[in-house]
Amino acid sequence: MGHANHEAATTSIRRFYMPIEGGNHSRGNICALIGPSRTGKTYAASKVFAECQPKVGADGIKRSVILVDCPIEGGPRAILDSVAAALGMNVSLRVTNSNLIQALMRELQRSEVEFVIFDEAQELFPEKNKRILSFSRKLLRKMLNLNQFSILCIGLPETYFIIAEDSQLIGRGGLPYKWLEPYDWSDPTDQKHFRVLCQKFDEEMPFEMSGFADPGFSYRLFKATKGCIGTLKVYMIAAGEYAIRDGSEKVELRHFADAYDERKRPGETRNPFRGSIS
Ligand SMILES: Nc1ncnc2c1ncn2[C@@H]1O[C@H](COP(=O)(O)OP(=O)(O)OP(=O)(O)O)[C@@H](O)[C@H]1O
Ligand SMILES: [Mg+2]
Repeated sequence: MGHANHEAATTSIRRFYMPIEGGNHSRGNICALIGPSRTGKTYAASKVFAECQPKVGADGIKRSVILVDCPIEGGPRAILDSVAAALGMNVSLRVTNSNLIQALMRELQRSEVEFVIFDEAQELFPEKNKRILSFSRKLLRKMLNLNQFSILCIGLPETYFIIAEDSQLIGRGGLPYKWLEPYDWSDPTDQKHFRVLCQKFDEEMPFEMSGFADPGFSYRLFKATKGCIGTLKVYMIAAGEYAIRDGSEKVELRHFADAYDERKRPGETRNPFRGSIS
């Protein structure tokens, strides 16, 4: 679904990949898409990735963009395996890490990769695990040294600072980044964008228009979700389910209120969908 933060994220990703539309793709740089959880980073990356389908070439499949989902466990081998999976390679358990690295470098070249996206990149740069940290840095430098593609790291805010500490990585392109934030109600432009997003949900849900973008309704939605698309989606689905069970034609405040009650922290008494709101 299009909305301001999503457009901003996809525009940045496309620009990191291809600085000038229709020009040459970028090479040898590292860049970052950073932001708190559930702000739509993966969604934006998947959108751009889906636009760049693999093609069949004379000597096999060519992949202009690969999307690596970084593993949460398993050390260096799991990281290498995740890159291999993104390249569509079948890797025998018996292959040593150093042979696998060589095979990956060959396959990155053969399949003419132009852009590598590492999602959940905080798993590559765990602050407290020096072994993984050092391995990931070396692997990324080796990949960038092919001078064939740029690398985008998507992750939580701390990831940016850990990459930025590495002078050899930051030296490769200066680490351009896009910081994706939830919408901020106190910023008039953001508030407008958040209300447009509420309107989009209203239009796309299989109900009559419920008025999500009205000033009072959207403010309550903001209070409940703190302007975060992922949380907003959770409430839209949950309240929609209440409305369906109710046989209601609209999704009403009471449906959101029930959905909120079900999810609020133990001891929390406030419910932004009940009572008056300033
Ligand atoms: N533009 C959008 N339209 C519709 N749904 C979206 C959009 N962006 C994100 N979402 C939804 O919001 C939720 C969170 O998005 P996403 O997984 O991309 O967040 P993230 O920033 O990658 O979070 P994390 O850091 O936890 O991985 C998902 O359910 C996703 O489908
Ligand atoms: Mg994600």
